[in-house]
Amino acid sequence: MEALKIEGGRALRGELTVQGAKNSVLPLLAATLLGSGKSVIRNCPHLTDVTASLDILRHLGCEVEADGETVWVDASTLKTCEIPEALMRSMRSSVIFLGPILARLGMAGMCHPGGCELGPRPIDLHLEALRTLGSQVSEGPDGLRCAAVGLRGNDISLSIPSVGATENAMLAAAVAAGVTTIQNAAREPEIVQLQDFLNDMGGDVRGAGTSVITIRGTGGAPLHGGEATVMGDRIVAATYLSAAAAAGGEICLSGVDYRQLSPVSAILAEAGCMVKSEGERIWLKRDPATPLKAVRPIRTAPYPGFPTDAQAPVMASLCTARGATMFVENMFSSRYRHIDELRKMGADIRTEGRVAVVCGVEQLHAAALEAFDLRGGAALAVAALAAEGESALCGLCHIRRGYADLAGDLTALNAKAYYAEKE
Ligand code: EPZ
Repeated sequence: MEALKIEGGRALRGELTVQGAKNSVLPLLAATLLGSGKSVIRNCPHLTDVTASLDILRHLGCEVEADGETVWVDASTLKTCEIPEALMRSMRSSVIFLGPILARLGMAGMCHPGGCELGPRPIDLHLEALRTLGSQVSEGPDGLRCAAVGLRGNDISLSIPSVGATENAMLAAAVAAGVTTIQNAAREPEIVQLQDFLNDMGGDVRGAGTSVITIRGTGGAPLHGGEATVMGDRIVAATYLSAAAAAGGEICLSGVDYRQLSPVSAILAEAGCMVKSEGERIWLKRDPATPLKAVRPIRTAPYPGFPTDAQAPVMASLCTARGATMFVENMFSSRYRHIDELRKMGADIRTEGRVAVVCGVEQLHAAALEAFDLRGGAALAVAALAAEGESALCGLCHIRRGYADLAGDLTALNAKAYYAEKE
């Protein structure tokens, strides 16, 4: 089995341009289905979730080409409204395709995406939004079936600012008849990029980034092709800032709007790092001889709160901080699976339900580690950079969903990290 080997104890140094954002490119690829023409997506990261999305688009009848980090999708002719289970299983967030397939073809079918490593992943808000736009939705043993003679604009009120449900509603409403408002919409930057792409395709979407989004639908006519350049991945950036905080040294990340990272950079600054930013560049410096300090309680929350996706990497960086830091994971019920692996390295972390208290220890030691989910796996790499000795991290299939080349990126920042067969 392949493993990522990481030698700890080396300060990080260097500059890196952060890859395109997984959580932006996936809804953008889903949105290409609304265009009767060719769309182009630039700065597309090489991720297994992207590969899975391109396979789904091809299955639906799109012509897909990829060259480096540019992808072209021509959705002029779609041939099916069904996503088979095998393709759904390759990426549970494929539920994002439900709205655009339904909007374009009047029908959509897929198996229920089910839960994932983070716990149950309900989609009730997605389905309620589609019903509000006039779709019949049935859930049965053979999965989800949606049908609509024509979607009609309406007022959608989300009980939770769900990212995926907001995106699905935007995608379906873009070609519905009339105006749709989404109240309590998610405010993530990736939602703003989706709005911009839909408008470039001829849509009329406003308000993304706030809690109220207004969409004036085309009344059933498809959009045309559009262009987008995927924004930098703020969670990958948070991961690498956490890595530099853990290992010490000085790095500069480019390609990410620092304002999207402020909750994370504020915590790392409070822990004792020097964090500076301007435009799309973020610097972090930490003297390896000066340990990090524990920080105020970290509670995950919808954007612009502390991102749940950064919880694990930041936790890993605080395992050798002086003092104790409390985490409260409010977004997902099973997002502490990295803690047992951190304990193998000597971390002292106590958990009680959604609360985890990290009591800083003098030193972590290398261990054989396993990733059980995407961000938890990245967190183990962060901890390995600060540990004494060489760690081996397996379960890379999880990591490759969201990090194009973790070993390559860490090596560019002076780490000794490489892929090898696990003995
Ligand atoms: C998106 O997931 C991201 N994934 C997640 O990133 C991220 O952690 C999450 O938003 C929260 O920010 C993508 O964008 C592909 P939600 P999503 O709907 O849309 C509950 C990563 O590591 N909920 O905002 O699935 C849900 O259970 C991934 O990159 C319902 O109850 O998240 C959760 O508690 C992990 N019913 C909360 O809302 C629904 O219908 C927020 O989930 C939908 C969600």
